[in-house]
Amino acid sequence: MTRLTNKRILLGVTGGIAAYKSAELIRRMQDEGADVRVVMTAAAQEFITPLTLQALSGHPVATTLLDAETESVMGHIELARWADLILIAPASADFIARIAGGQGDDLLTTLCLAADGAMAIAPAMNQAMWRNPATARNVVYIRTKGFLIFGPDEGLQACGEVGPGRLLDIEGLVDAVAGVFPSQALRGRHVVITAGPTREAIDPVRFISNHSSGKQGYALASAARDAEARVTLISGPTQLEAPDRVTRIDVISADDMYHAAIAAIDDCDIFIGVAAVADYKPVLPADQKIKKSDAPSNRSITIELIENSDIIAAVAGHPERPYTVGFAAETQDVVQYARGKLDKKNLDMIVANDVSGSDRGFNSENNQTTVLYRAGIDVREEALPLMSKGNVARRIIELIVEQTGATQMAALSEASS
Ligand code: C5P
Repeated sequence: MTRLTNKRILLGVTGGIAAYKSAELIRRMQDEGADVRVVMTAAAQEFITPLTLQALSGHPVATTLLDAETESVMGHIELARWADLILIAPASADFIARIAGGQGDDLLTTLCLAADGAMAIAPAMNQAMWRNPATARNVVYIRTKGFLIFGPDEGLQACGEVGPGRLLDIEGLVDAVAGVFPSQALRGRHVVITAGPTREAIDPVRFISNHSSGKQGYALASAARDAEARVTLISGPTQLEAPDRVTRIDVISADDMYHAAIAAIDDCDIFIGVAAVADYKPVLPADQKIKKSDAPSNRSITIELIENSDIIAAVAGHPERPYTVGFAAETQDVVQYARGKLDKKNLDMIVANDVSGSDRGFNSENNQTTVLYRAGIDVREEALPLMSKGNVARRIIELIVEQTGATQMAALSEASS
């Protein structure tokens, strides 16, 4: 995943026990494609050495304003302007106070004064220091000056106390940094996503449903929106809030979802069917609540079920079909079954989803997936490690971007030949 390709990040490290985490942060931002340079305050050097961060970043670490050698490599004003983002992580209470006061008494505060691009801080301090009204006032003030504030987290602190003030976890920080540079890869495209379970009425108070939480579909809606797509989320009943700037259409049954999806096809470039659609529905839902006394004397009742229409197959079979992506939740032979569904439902891509463990799939925060997609006459396979549903969503969106770009180019060259 390379959400920071060609991005230049100036990482400012200030004094605090969380300073050691900057080593991992540098690595993760580099994994995402960023070029990272580091500036350390004097206090930060008490916790981690410049040499460590120099070795990791691959650049000299600047520590003082008046160092002729580092100034000759890149002067401090030049360094401030070089950065697409100045990120101070961890940011101590003292450092926040100094930038709120407009001070330029060391290299890092001076860089913040001289910068004209994006700036962010990730506070890390004892919970009482974070709650102190002076810190709260300083944070509010620097926010009005355009600083983004990433975190802090709550929890057990290095000093043994519990409360807000922990440095945001590294993945959360990387996500926040990536959010500063949204991709525009799907600008102008309309992405329609089905998500969550459906409910098939047995009577007015009972239904057949499944354990789908909707989290993976909602994560995809956010990732598509972050790539600047217009997003319509056709959602079965979930506990989730609609992501910002996403149009949500609420549906209950598979029939409702089918009609909403078909109505959206004409104006849809990419369709992603993540919903766990009930395969069957009662043939004749009862008008009134079924009473126990309705059961015959053998104490059992029979509900006749009939198959629901396959929404994604109908979308993929449409003459003006969008690029169509399905999901296949399986507990065994995951990839093999998914490959069968790719063909049977005439999809362009399918995400094989292992729902065999409680740490993945339905209702979990993580997902273990393998993505299969057509590339000409081949079917390619990319196995993703167990990762957060947000990261799965971003990788799927990247693959869709690559594939729809490639599909368009193939169509253009066919048209011109
Ligand atoms: O056949 P199966 O239910 O495993 O296929 C899963 C894929 O098909 C998912 O993308 C799901 O959203 C879609 N589906 C559908 N309509 C149905 C059943 C499944 O769109 N009735």
